[in-house]
Amino acid sequence: MNQSKNTVFDCRVVDVSKIHNNAGNITVVENNTNIPFNVKRIYYLYDVPGGESRGGHAHYELEQYIVAASGSFDVLLDDGTTKKTISLNRPNIALHIVPGLWRALDNFSSGSICMVLASEEYNENDYIRNYEKYVAWKL
Ligand code: TYD
Repeated sequence: MNQSKNTVFDCRVVDVSKIHNNAGNITVVENNTNIPFNVKRIYYLYDVPGGESRGGHAHYELEQYIVAASGSFDVLLDDGTTKKTISLNRPNIALHIVPGLWRALDNFSSGSICMVLASEEYNENDYIRNYEKYVAWKL
């Protein structure tokens, strides 16, 4: 499938769920219930030094939910035409990044955890790591 036509406007911030309790909250993400793809892989970024940036690539097919499981950070989305920055700072809020979007993550707060729910297993061939190549693919 050619995902090159997806834009930043296809990426949405989703309030996933929150089971509130005075003793603490639970957020549940469950395949076929409140996520629009099947989760095949979960990974998380942590111990990001102040001032560091992550990401800086796009995926041909992979889609993701990105969640600030702890702390906060910014996600910069870029479809080659439009750029958009989304700040994440709540564990019940996910950013749905559709395939074919350039993304970078920065402004990590100290101790923050970026949890990623991914639609595919790790595959280096699905990455576009060169921005010029990405923009050419979007044309
Ligand atoms: P990368 O996705 O480029 O990290 P980020 O976008 O957060 O900056 O991955 C960094 C390295 O980790 C790269 O060498 C590939 C490896 N990696 C895996 O082996 N499996 C994975 O699921 C992920 C996400 C990365």
